[in-house]
Amino acid sequence: MKIIHKIPEMQKITKKLHSANKTIGLVPTMGALHGGHISLIQRARKENDCVIVSIFVNPTQFGPNEDYLRYPRPFNKDVRMCKKYGVNYVFAPTPKEMYDINHLSYVTVEKLSNILCGEFRQGHFRGVTTVVTKLFNITQPDRAYFGEKDYQQLMIIQKMVNDLNFPVKIIPCPTIRENDGLALSSRNLCLSKNERIRAGKIYRILLRVKKLFHEKKLLSADKIVNYIKNEIRRVPGLRIQYVKICNSKTLDEIKGKLYSPARILIAVWDGKTRLIDNIEI
Ligand SMILES: Nc1ncnc2c1ncn2[C@@H]1O[C@H](COP(=O)(O)OP(=O)(O)OP(=O)(O)O)[C@@H](O)[C@H]1O
Ligand SMILES: [Mg+2]
Repeated sequence: MKIIHKIPEMQKITKKLHSANKTIGLVPTMGALHGGHISLIQRARKENDCVIVSIFVNPTQFGPNEDYLRYPRPFNKDVRMCKKYGVNYVFAPTPKEMYDINHLSYVTVEKLSNILCGEFRQGHFRGVTTVVTKLFNITQPDRAYFGEKDYQQLMIIQKMVNDLNFPVKIIPCPTIRENDGLALSSRNLCLSKNERIRAGKIYRILLRVKKLFHEKKLLSADKIVNYIKNEIRRVPGLRIQYVKICNSKTLDEIKGKLYSPARILIAVWDGKTRLIDNIEI
């Protein structure tokens, strides 16, 4: 396995791989790798000749008051994990390498970037679509792997790829969870013991509400949202940012009678850590 820090070197390698007719799978990450990332890597390993994992904590997707500097960066441990799971290249550029001091160009997916998480994290998705575009141009993947844990991100990237004709196939991967249901996430490392315990309740509430819906005990979107909000409010220390039910394909909010395909999306503060989750209903 090779670690690449420079863009021209990475581009030279991917060009060579394509001339040799090798397929490339890209797994973009911000590091602090966990089982969720590993599941993406394993899927990429199965489907491609060559697997590239990018590790880059992307400054342009963090707001001015967000946790860019505090974000965990256990680089050596990440490299060991990548080696263990058969990754061929780790692409780990510095912020300077990715963003020239005169950087002026951004990619934006309109509308979808301003709802849900985007309403509370101004500029976040613009940062994501810009860095993913750069990573696609640098690594030229045939397939790129994204987790459903970040469902809105997945939809936005799929939209960008469709709208702008990127020659890459986006592969959505299911959310990997801890035993108590908490979606694996690098930011879980920031949770104290008590915060970690109550974090597990979020998904269990979503599961309960899904069951109630299928038993026809809770039918309208508004009732489901209110039920979830009330249950979360009963957990001391959790603070709701949003709970919404959306069309799984368009992310249009559903109000009133629920129809499929629909997905509940939620963001909750647990102490100083922001957690997101979602479930198909
Ligand atoms: N639990 C999970 N299951 C499946 N995929 C996941 C999971 N967590 C993250 N991913 C995916 O891994 C990729 C890289 O995500 P990222 O490095 O931001 O990790 P993260 O756990 O989301 O970190 P953070 O919570 O700090 O944002 C994304 O496509 C993301 O959706
Ligand atoms: Mg993330």
